[in-house]
Order: sequence, then structure tokens, then C-alpha cells
Amino acid sequence: MITLYNDDCLNILREMPTGSVDMIFADPPYNLSGQNFVTVQNGKPVKLYKGDWDVIDDIDRFNYEWIGECLRVLSDNGTLWISGTLHNHPSVGSTLKKLNAWIINDIIWYKPNATPLLSCNRLAPSTELIWLASKSKKYYFNYELAKQLNGDRQMKNLWVINAERHKTIHKTEKPETLLERIIALGSNEGQLVLDPFLGSGTTGVVAKRMGRNFIGIEISKEYFDIASARINNTAVEPCLPL
Ligand SMILES: C[S@@+](CC[C@H](N)C(=O)[O-])C[C@H]1O[C@@H](n2cnc3c(N)ncnc32)[C@H](O)[C@@H]1O
Repeated sequence: MITLYNDDCLNILREMPTGSVDMIFADPPYNLSGQNFVTVQNGKPVKLYKGDWDVIDDIDRFNYEWIGECLRVLSDNGTLWISGTLHNHPSVGSTLKKLNAWIINDIIWYKPNATPLLSCNRLAPSTELIWLASKSKKYYFNYELAKQLNGDRQMKNLWVINAERHKTIHKTEKPETLLERIIALGSNEGQLVLDPFLGSGTTGVVAKRMGRNFIGIEISKEYFDIASARINNTAVEPCLPL
């Protein structure tokens, strides 16, 4: 079952029952817009501006509220995966600590094909960090599948996955390959996956394809419509570990 809401995630999360979700992937605003960073678009330098949704006045308070609600709705052995960059991950890390979450891993997602740095005054950013946390030391994580996917050797916390050509106009669309790995390792077929910052719908597309139930929340009507159409057009392909 797929349920999508066009609303502020806090409004929906506050109505959801405690412990009702098996796995959460959250790709929140990183708060990197409007700080005079420059990036490349169609081969030309442009100011880095992801959208009004990416400008947050009080990032610590914002993170405290939504992460607090996510931990409440998470099942006792569920996992919460939160992606970020240096712009928000210190705040996410300290918020997880304040909320007494159990931090399982910090996963470094390395993009070998990351956009070059035009300003040529520092190292070219090519990674994102994904916090993996739970409510306690007892959590579900498919260790054996991770090993199997890594040629029968322990999977490490450095994931080399290329950025993919975007399927929609959303500026921060995540690669489906990344979500396939996360959903495969953090949940089972028939379980409930939640994404409180749905964006273009990547998590919903992959969750549906992999036979998971899914709840997605997106505040922007434009992105909500894009995500809904994308998820509706996705077929279920059960028995797909990856
Ligand atoms: C980083 S993007 C997510 C991109 C997504 N992972 C994808 O693959 O397309 C964050 C999204 O959260 C939405 N958003 C921001 N604040 C929100 C809120 N309070 N509740 C729900 N959605 C929100 C933004 O409109 C934006 O589309």
C-alpha cells in the first residue's frame, strides 16, 4: 500500500501512531542554499540555490522536531537513515545524540562522477554522509545481504555509487541505486518504509518496486505531483534484492 501526503511532514508525523514504521529514509533540506556557493549547470557556473525549502532559519530546532517525531513513529527495531552534507550533518549528529538515538553507522557515499569545483579554492565535494540510527542496540539490519552484495566480504561504510542523470526537474533527486541498497538492507518485503521529505519520489519508486509498503510526505505541490506520477507509473517487482 502506498500513501502520499502533500503537507508539512510535522503535521502528518504528529498524527501517526507510535512505533508504526519499520524503516525511515530522510533526505531533509541541507540548508546549503543562499550562501554564495557556486555550482555547474549545463556547463555554466550558477549560484547554488536548491529552492526556498532549503533555507532554514534555525536548523537545530528544525532537525530536533522532525527527527524527534521520526524516532517516535519508528518501530522498536526499526532504522532511521538520514542523508546530509557538511551543511547539516553536525546538527543531525548532535540532534540524534540529544534524542538518545543509537547511532549504528555513518555511511560515506562517494560519487566518483561528482560535479567539478569551479572556484578552485578547496577540495571538490564528492561525498554525502548518511547517518544510520535506531532507538536501541536491537535493530534490524540485513548483514548477510550486505555481505552477499559485496562479493561475500563484509560491506564497509564507504559506498561508491555514481550520481545519476536526473529523471525529474527536482534539483536534489537521489540515485535509485542508492535507495535500492538502503531499502534492501533496512527492510523486508511487505514492511512499511517512510520518507518525510519525498521530493521527486525516489524512495517511493524504489520501495514500491521492491514490494514494500510506503508513506511519503512532500510540502511542495509541484514536487508532490511529480512524485505521485512517478510512483504511480512504477510496477511492483517483488523478489528483487537488488
Ligand atoms: C532534499 S529534497 C528530497 C529529494 C528526494 N530524496 C529525491 O530523491 O527527490 C527535500 C524535499 O523536502 C521538501 N520539504 C522541505 N521541508 C519540508 C517539510 N517540512 N515537510 C515535507 N517536505 C518538506 C522539499 O520541498 C524538497 O522537495
